[in-house]
Amino acid sequence: MAIGMFWRDVWLRPKQMGAIAPSGAELAQVMCEAVGLQDGHVIVELGAGTGALTKTIRAMAPTSPLLAFEPGAEMAKHLQEQFPDIRVSTRFAQDLPDELGPWGQTAVDRVVSGLPWTIWPVAEQDHILGNVVKCMKDDGKLVTFTYVHSQILPGARTLKTLLARHFTSVRRTRVAWRNVPPAFAWVGEGPKRG
Ligand SMILES: C[S@@+](CC[C@H](N)C(=O)[O-])C[C@H]1O[C@@H](n2cnc3c(N)ncnc32)[C@H](O)[C@@H]1O
Repeated sequence: MAIGMFWRDVWLRPKQMGAIAPSGAELAQVMCEAVGLQDGHVIVELGAGTGALTKTIRAMAPTSPLLAFEPGAEMAKHLQEQFPDIRVSTRFAQDLPDELGPWGQTAVDRVVSGLPWTIWPVAEQDHILGNVVKCMKDDGKLVTFTYVHSQILPGARTLKTLLARHFTSVRRTRVAWRNVPPAFAWVGEGPKRG
């Protein structure tokens, strides 16, 4: 069962998981709509886990090239079995620049992130965002969720500041109240160069 696998990894790798449950369908829909996901877009998913967001990405962009990063070996295997036509990498999101060429792509239209940014040091968040932005097309967009309750933590404000450092425009989506726990997403548009 995917949920059992998720909870096992929360126990074994708490600093890489940063969640108590996979994202729900409402949050996935809010995120994919917020970046205008279309079939044909070159898409990267960061921290795909058991495929909660992947399912909606695939439904909205069924033939798009899709590269999903998931360092958890068992979850990555499960993901590849569920979605045999996507490319799954067990490397970290920060390795995106090295994965682009072997995947046969030069730049990315949309990045959908399930990464637990706010539990990481600022330098690590900044490093990942910098590498991601390097790989995006000029009209590229990134969407990443955050829990409503985590907004009181300093890390949440840091993420918004970092997104503004790497994107020309940053906005937030509505809250997906049925998600456990309720969450909204940040959207970064227009990657800043250099
Ligand atoms: C909060 S879970 C999200 C899972 C799924 N996307 C969802 O929304 O339910 C975070 C996921 O990011 C993965 N992860 C952690 N650090 C990562 C990194 N540096 N690069 C890529 N994925 C990472 C974890 O293994 C975990 O599956």
